[in-house]
This record gives sequence, structure tokens and C-alpha cells, in this order.
Amino acid sequence: MFSRRIPRHAQTNALAGAVEALRASGTPFADLTESNPTRAGIPYPAGLLAPLADPRALRYEPLPFGLGSARAAVAADQHRRGANVDPEQVVLTASTSEAYSWLFKLLCDPGEAVLVPRPSYPLFEHLTQLEGVRAEPYALEYHGRWEIDVSTLAAAPSDARAVVVVSPNNPTGSCLTAAELDRLVALCRDREWALIADEVFADYLFESGTLPRASAASRGVTDIASRAGVLSFTLAGLSKTVGLPQLKLGWMIAGGPRAERDAALRALELIADSFLSVGTPVQVALPELLRTGAPARAAIQARTCHNLDVLRDLARGYPACDVLHTDGGWSAVIRVPSTRTEDQVVLDLLSHERILVHPGYFFDFPREAFLVVSLLPDRDVFSDAVARLLRFC
Ligand SMILES: Cc1ncc(COP(=O)(O)O)c(C=O)c1O
Repeated sequence: MFSRRIPRHAQTNALAGAVEALRASGTPFADLTESNPTRAGIPYPAGLLAPLADPRALRYEPLPFGLGSARAAVAADQHRRGANVDPEQVVLTASTSEAYSWLFKLLCDPGEAVLVPRPSYPLFEHLTQLEGVRAEPYALEYHGRWEIDVSTLAAAPSDARAVVVVSPNNPTGSCLTAAELDRLVALCRDREWALIADEVFADYLFESGTLPRASAASRGVTDIASRAGVLSFTLAGLSKTVGLPQLKLGWMIAGGPRAERDAALRALELIADSFLSVGTPVQVALPELLRTGAPARAAIQARTCHNLDVLRDLARGYPACDVLHTDGGWSAVIRVPSTRTEDQVVLDLLSHERILVHPGYFFDFPREAFLVVSLLPDRDVFSDAVARLLRFC
């Protein structure tokens, strides 16, 4: 009855069933999968949402790429990362997920492939399938740091149209190095792939001053890809940069050779004009939100840095558990002894310790046993739960 683009209903797995049962019985548990900053006790500045009531929002201007003032605010905000962006390159969307869907429509015919990192954000499977395209994984390998296994990219199918990089990646926290970016851009040029750089977590680097790897974010993928003659799109949005996912505003920044970039923008305009999905109040408020939201970003950054330090400190007492190296983002990966399956570990943690974590397979880790914990939860909840988790594993 329904199209093949609709993902099959995943059967409720044992973990989801166990969580549901705990919730139904009102049993409290420490949720180390919480990735929603608005539920993590982050202090937001008073009056942060007041600009949403600006009376200028009473006037509706159906502009496919969004209001000029909002696009200019996104472009100006890129200066924080040392990138020079013209507001004409900025396309507003309702979310990063929507930006992906527009880009897959733009770049791929039905059935063609998009290259996505593995392990990474599990939504890629759905986002591609819903557009009638295939997600083909390329590998990230861990050798004390996560690195792209370029051989898996070089072996990509011939109908690949774009490669997605996530920097910092979710959940590994790995940033693209300058050398990786150079190799990637060279491959994109040879194979005529567009480069899609997901930088939603680019504001959240753990040791930005001392990072040995030039984070793609700090150098600006758009600049580098453009200089190399590669069509590129950099994605981010309010959901992470100010911790406001409920406002539904994301953006993409188009880069590349002028003629190609302009042609892409003209085609994107047709797509955007068919949806006009971004609400006016949030566009009007954007310049102010980006300015006054900085303390929320700082609070999230302080929380994730603190929780990562706590995790690393505690893990020193448990040599069998290894907190994998991370450059940034909102989560951490713990390698635990693989004496039980990941499924068994997460189920036992929930039933014996009342701690919920994600198993590595949720993010398509190639082998077991990895646990993924969010670094957003309240400090006390996090440190108590992580201490018990490590003891348990
Ligand atoms: C890597 C990555 N990209 C995109 C998104 C979605 O962001 P948005 O809320 O802007 O759709 C997420 C959400 O967690 C994510 O982890």
C-alpha cells in the first residue's frame, strides 16, 4: 500500500521494551542517552525567546531562501570560525534534516548513492531512504583516534553523487583533519561528488586551542572545497549552535566554483520555493538569537567538557574500559570488555543499575562492545551513573 521509501517498522527491540516498562511503572533511571539540551537543565538566558514576538513577523514575505536579515546573520556568525561567507550562499531550512532532504533531491536521481560515514548518526539511513536514494557507508577506523579509511571511499560505487562528512562526528566526536579534507576534496573532484559537511557540533570542541587536527570547522570546509573546485554544502543550525531544536531553524552554506554553485542555488531555489518551510518569527529573531544565545552555547560546552573530564578521570580506575579519543560533540564512546553482547550489557545496565545508554550497534560500530553516553545530562546524575556503569562493566 505504501511506497518502498517508507522504512519498515523496526520491531520494538528488547531495550526499547524495557525502557517503556520502566516508564510505565514510574521507575526512575539515569538517562545517558539524553541528547535534547532543553531537557538537560541547561540555563538559558532570561528573555532569550522575546525576539520571537517582534511585530515585524506579522508581515509574511515568502522568500525561498529566507529573509535577507536572517541569511546575513548566519553569514556574519561564520566569522567566529574564521570563514568568510556571503549571505547569498546561505539557504535557510527548518532543520539540518530538511537540508539533507533538499540536497538529496538536488544531487541524486532515485536509486543513486550518497556516501555516509560509519559509525555515525543513525538517521542517515532513513533520510536517504525517504528520498529514494541509497546510503553507502565508508569506514572510520580507530587507531587511538578515529580516521577515515580512504580505501573504502575510493571503492565507492560509481553511482555515488555526494559524500557526507560529519565533523565533529556523532557519536565518535572525531573531527576531519586538514590532511583528510585534502584527500577527500581530491576524491570529490575526480569522481564529481558534491561534498556535504555536517558541522552541527562544530561549536563544541573539547580542546580547541590545542587541537592537533585542524578541525574542518575552524578552517571552513566551504572555503577549502571551493578553492579546490568542488561543490560543497556546509550544514548547521540553531538546534545545536544555541541548543534550541524546538525553534526549527537550520541552514546550509553553498560553496564551490562560482558557476556550479550558482546553478546549484538556482535549483535549490525551486525546491525551497515548493516548501517555504521556515517560519517568519524565528527568521526575524535570528540575528538576536545568535547574539544572545551565546551563554546557552557556553553552558552546554561547560557541561560536556565537565562530564567528559569526569568520565576520563573515573575510567582511569578501570583499565578494562577505555574512553575513546574524541575531539568534540555531545557524546563519548566507551569500549567495554566484550564478554557479553552489547545488547546484554545495555539491558543488564538498565535492569540492575537503572542506567540507560546506547549500544554501539545503534550507530553501526563495526564490532562489539562499545557504549555511547551523552555528555549533556546534569553533572551529578552523570557522575553517579558513570561511576556505577564503569564498576558494572
Ligand atoms: C550529526 C547530526 N546531524 C544533524 C542532526 C539534526 O540536526 P537538526 O536538529 O538541525 O535537524 C543531528 C541531531 O542530533 C546530528 O547528530
